Amino acid sequence: MSQVRIGILIGSTRPGRNGDKVAKWVLDHAVERDDADFELVDLADFSLPHLDEAVPASRGQYANEHTRAWADKIDSFDGFVFVTPEYNHSTSGALKNAIDFIYGEWNNKAAALVSYGVHGGLRAAEHLRLVLGELQIADVRQQVSFSLVTDFEDYTVFAPKGGQEAQLTTQLDQLVSWAGALQGVREQKLAAAA
Ligand SMILES: Cc1cc2nc3c(=O)[nH]c(=O)nc-3n(C[C@H](O)[C@H](O)[C@H](O)COP(=O)(O)O)c2cc1C
Repeated sequence: MSQVRIGILIGSTRPGRNGDKVAKWVLDHAVERDDADFELVDLADFSLPHLDEAVPASRGQYANEHTRAWADKIDSFDGFVFVTPEYNHSTSGALKNAIDFIYGEWNNKAAALVSYGVHGGLRAAEHLRLVLGELQIADVRQQVSFSLVTDFEDYTVFAPKGGQEAQLTTQLDQLVSWAGALQGVREQKLAAAA
């Protein structure tokens, strides 16, 4: 088993977004661990348009350079922390669009959800879990959530009230464990296909 690699995805591309602060908080705590490598992945850096691939993603025939760049980045990870805002009781359109662009690069990997919104973004996280199932991504139980009311000042200055560090530790324990185990599943599939 090689060192587990976890991508921390910033699920918002909005100017003035809160998502980058939440994701940075996750990274700052995660890098204290030595059982996995962690990297921030900012959707905004990939400038993905609305889905513009003619062939279904499940076939893995990506025509566009932006799709291949996104696929290569996601392919490099064993697991993910999805940092999702809540927009109209779901995740962001930008994150859903980025998810839809590719398929095989998500399969047989693990994920954890960190959400934020007026009520902690819990509805967005539950909605996102349904999507992850279709992608064959195993989502761990432990949730970390931040309320715009109690964990932010003026809805914009990130100031977590505390308690989330312990939740994140449990969540990353679960995530790294499953991400490592699923390396074996992917290796078996590669061997069987060879
Ligand atoms: C289009 C839109 C819809 C939203 N809908 C909800 C919602 O349904 N529930 C909620 O708790 N917050 C909602 N909010 C508030 C966001 O959760 C909050 O603005 C959050 O900071 C957005 O993440 P971002 O700043 O990283 O883009 C909404 C915000 C936007 C922009």
